Amino acid sequence: MSIAQHFIQELLARADIVEIVGRYVQLKKTGANFTGLCPFHAEKSPSFSVSPAKQFYHCFGCGKHGDAIDFLMEHAGGSFVETVHDLAQQYGLQVPEDERSPAERERAAQESEKRVTLTDVLARAADAYRLRLKDSPRAIGYLKGRGLSGQAARDFGLGYAPEGWRTLAGVFADYADPLLQEAGLVIAGEDGQDKRYDRFRDRIMFPIRSVKGEVIGFGGRVLGDEKPKYLNSPETPVFHKGRELYGLFEARAALREHGYALVTEGYMDVVALAQLGFANAVATLGTACTPEHLHKLFRFTASVVFSFDGDAAGRRAARKALEAALPLATDVRSVKFLFLPPEHDPDSFIRAEGAEAFAEAVKAAVPLSRFLLDAAAEQCDLSTAEGRSHLATNARALWQLLPAGALAQQLLGEIAAQVQIGAHELQQLWGLRQTGGAHRHEKKSDARPPAGAGRPAWQTGAPRRASGLRTPPASRASRALQIVLTEPSAWDRLSDSDHVLLCDLPPPHGPLFAWLAGQAMDHGPQPWSALRQALRGHEYEAFAAGQVASVPPDIVSEPAELAGIVRTERREQIKRRMDAALAASELPLYRSLLRELAAADESSAADSGNGG
Ligand code: UTP
Ligand code: MN
Repeated sequence: MSIAQHFIQELLARADIVEIVGRYVQLKKTGANFTGLCPFHAEKSPSFSVSPAKQFYHCFGCGKHGDAIDFLMEHAGGSFVETVHDLAQQYGLQVPEDERSPAERERAAQESEKRVTLTDVLARAADAYRLRLKDSPRAIGYLKGRGLSGQAARDFGLGYAPEGWRTLAGVFADYADPLLQEAGLVIAGEDGQDKRYDRFRDRIMFPIRSVKGEVIGFGGRVLGDEKPKYLNSPETPVFHKGRELYGLFEARAALREHGYALVTEGYMDVVALAQLGFANAVATLGTACTPEHLHKLFRFTASVVFSFDGDAAGRRAARKALEAALPLATDVRSVKFLFLPPEHDPDSFIRAEGAEAFAEAVKAAVPLSRFLLDAAAEQCDLSTAEGRSHLATNARALWQLLPAGALAQQLLGEIAAQVQIGAHELQQLWGLRQTGGAHRHEKKSDARPPAGAGRPAWQTGAPRRASGLRTPPASRASRALQIVLTEPSAWDRLSDSDHVLLCDLPPPHGPLFAWLAGQAMDHGPQPWSALRQALRGHEYEAFAAGQVASVPPDIVSEPAELAGIVRTERREQIKRRMDAALAASELPLYRSLLRELAAADESSAADSGNGG
């Protein structure tokens, strides 16, 4: 499954990014770098830059950036593993799967075999459920009663799991086969075999398909009002709720035709919308929308409209979706939010009001930028200075998740307008620009706003000096995080006590450093592309990805920078403890802290004497 990290590094060392990008983009040498028209968004003047020295590309227009593997993944839409294999083949390298022990290889082979058999079992069950629907006037009646056409039921392969505890025993020769349990179709009671029974009984069955069209799980709805209303397949080797979208396979063609995806919350919403002309609808599976969901969706379309119920729960879901979408909201993508009247979900709305009314609602959907402002303004009384300042604080937390680009830049202006201060003042308030600091783009003649303008000085790469610059602690921790995530060797250069200090920072930074420590321990230094994969499903995945996405590639990460950040943080912590000791009149403690501080200063003086 996973590919040895040293191999990825070897591959990246072998691959020349200028050559690889050059296969698809006409590049021109401009100084140390190459530039061309960005292949990821429509543009007339080149803002796409490739650095042979850093083996990195970056588009100042849309913010896309990465290494050779990222470029190929983005360009061809392949997975990380696929791309690595393709590239390895081009350079005549063998992907070292054989480094695994024979036992590991054996297990992997079994796993992939199991995958095949699991999807076989699930496909068989889906066929059986579909046939049983035909024999059940009650189930057909239920679907008809909800306005479903036979065509829609067929398109989605809807079925019926009959009443009875072991009806699947009539479908599979060996009801005791552990595969049935692993597929989530059969539940084994405590004493094993005798207590096995079907998970889905007397329910309308919605098969959930992977993007390849394989059945990977089911949702089952009761025909009445019993609870739970829906039962879903458990997590299995082939089914992960946080990654799959119901209806995505069925929606593929419509996504191209409509040019956007409608993201809803329910199975019935997807089926009803498809029946009434919106086959481009998908649904999350009873979970909040994750960045992983969106990533998957953005492989099929650049434009997403979330459709939520108009009630409080819908608004909460929308907030979660906003946070998932922000790190992925590059300038070439569009994300909108549609709010229905409180009493409706998409299914009931389109049935009550009709397809045209729904199309109108889609047209009136709120762009992400507006929704961000609305969300930030929630519970803020904008008629008072306090309320407006509160809005500024709320907005900052959301705005920071955006990748650098024109959207982030424009939103900054809009937030400033809401706060009723100038954009420049807002930047200062947020510590985004050091007064009197040098600006890296001063010499640029081009009228385009510099990428990263409005970003903190440490993000734009403006020269920073430790003295006379008050970096807020969150920024310091964020910068440290960006460095360790993007410079594979940075973590190992720190001392054990530095590691402890970083891991003890408050969330989300501390837990992410702790996660990275585990990664470094298990796999050694890894490039961001590999860490990004490993982060999937992590509680702070979106935050970490957002942090990395906001680093322009031309920022220089000198080895000394991270050490400097850690030193500053350590000194600040000692000073805080000194203040507390003084306040509590604990003089011996104060004196020992004073010595600690002097020692910290001394070691940093020694470091800078070495030239870093
Ligand atoms: P809703 O309760 O909004 O259901 O749940 P719905 O889709 O409108 O269902 P109908 O119209 O009454 O048939 C939205 C989604 O949340 C998940 C399902 O994925 C459902 O489609 N859910 C809901 C569950 O997983 N379990 C439940 O008990 C309820
Ligand atoms: Mn509904």
